[in-house]
Amino acid sequence: MENRAQFGSRAGFIFAAVGSAIGLGNIWRFPAVAYDNGGGAFFLPYLFALLTAGIPLLILEFTIGHKYRGSAPLSLGRVKKSGEWIGWWQICISFVIATYYAVIIAWALAYTVFSFKLDWGNSTQDFLLVDYLKVGGTETMGSFVPGVLIPLIIVWVIVLGILFAGVKKGIEAATKIMIPLLVILFLIIVVRAVTLDGAIEGLNQFFKPNWSTIMNGKVWVAAYGQIFFSLSIGFAIMITYSSYLPKKSDITNSAFITGFANSGFELLAGFGVFAALGFMAAQQGVPVNEVVKSGVLLAFAVFPTIINELPRFQEVFGILFFVSLTLAGLTSLISIVETYIAGIQEKFNISRTKAVLFGGGVTAIVSLAFSTQNGLNLLDVADYFINQFGVAMAGLFEVIFIAWFAKQLKPLQAHADSVSDIRLGAWWRISLSIITPVVLGYMMFDNLRQNLT
Ligand code: PHE
Repeated sequence: MENRAQFGSRAGFIFAAVGSAIGLGNIWRFPAVAYDNGGGAFFLPYLFALLTAGIPLLILEFTIGHKYRGSAPLSLGRVKKSGEWIGWWQICISFVIATYYAVIIAWALAYTVFSFKLDWGNSTQDFLLVDYLKVGGTETMGSFVPGVLIPLIIVWVIVLGILFAGVKKGIEAATKIMIPLLVILFLIIVVRAVTLDGAIEGLNQFFKPNWSTIMNGKVWVAAYGQIFFSLSIGFAIMITYSSYLPKKSDITNSAFITGFANSGFELLAGFGVFAALGFMAAQQGVPVNEVVKSGVLLAFAVFPTIINELPRFQEVFGILFFVSLTLAGLTSLISIVETYIAGIQEKFNISRTKAVLFGGGVTAIVSLAFSTQNGLNLLDVADYFINQFGVAMAGLFEVIFIAWFAKQLKPLQAHADSVSDIRLGAWWRISLSIITPVVLGYMMFDNLRQNLT
């Protein structure tokens, strides 16, 4: 235990945590979720979710890791023996996410290379990796060419290389470079996007508040869902990272910085994406709502179209966009894989090197399945599994376990307060013991109900 790896500084830890939080979800999920759920009006439930669930849970997970100094199963097991399985459950979810997250980063890497000559084609139908099919008016993704194999191997070499190097020399050193670089590159993209013709109309559509949605439960569920996924909470990640925090580190302050940095980037992405969509809509003479897409379609079909239509420097912006996507993805993937590297290492008392070889190796091999022709269907299944049974349930069990079963909120509050400038008040305990369980419970039953009907 004495030799436990550590971050070199609190700043290093924050870079790593922010790196985990800022991911594909910020760029391709948030803008569309906000738009679909009331545009400007969505910011109210979103901010509420951030303050009553996102940041309180970040503080909770940081405190658990910092106090119990172990991977998620070990730390939760130290809170109370029966907590160990919650940690393993979260790790299982992380494992599933890692297998397909890696493939998406590999596509981004492949598209970075295509950007040099714009050889992804001229129309969405030509895009090398994507068959953009119109089936009965709705777009679906077709098969993917196997060209993603080499980028996928490169992704794993980078990720496992960084994890081999360890917490300080690997994770901290890498995220300290990658996150500032990502922010700079992305800022350049946003500045270009908002100065394009049509950008203003795109932003108008994005920010136009639709207050009638605000009483709709679905909108609130969407806000909480976005916050959970985006802040990487309930996935064993933040417990693992904070277990490497130097002992005398301010916890509460770190959680606020992480939460606001992540939301700041999310907002930035909203600007960039909707400005670019406004430009595309203007070019094609269609209303903005017809070009709004999210996920794989947004990144690998809509964005290449937009880049092709840029008046100048298409290659440069292609590279900027796909490098940004790659960086955002890599720093998240590193954090996901680290959860089970740490878990295996402690459970079986083996070296980090062996844990990386085994844990990383297995994930890399499974992810190869997603890079095949049928990969997209598999990806859908995995994504469905995560959203239905992963996010809400893992977070729900965690808060109920801590607040109601182990009854550890007060001692954990005392622990956080002992190292932090900001004192936690009753809002923190109420958020975790009541608000979060109610919302997550509702989310889970809503999912189940939809599955059964
Ligand atoms: N938080 C990251 C995002 O917004 C992704 C992520 C989700 C990472 C879940 C780990 C676990 O994309």
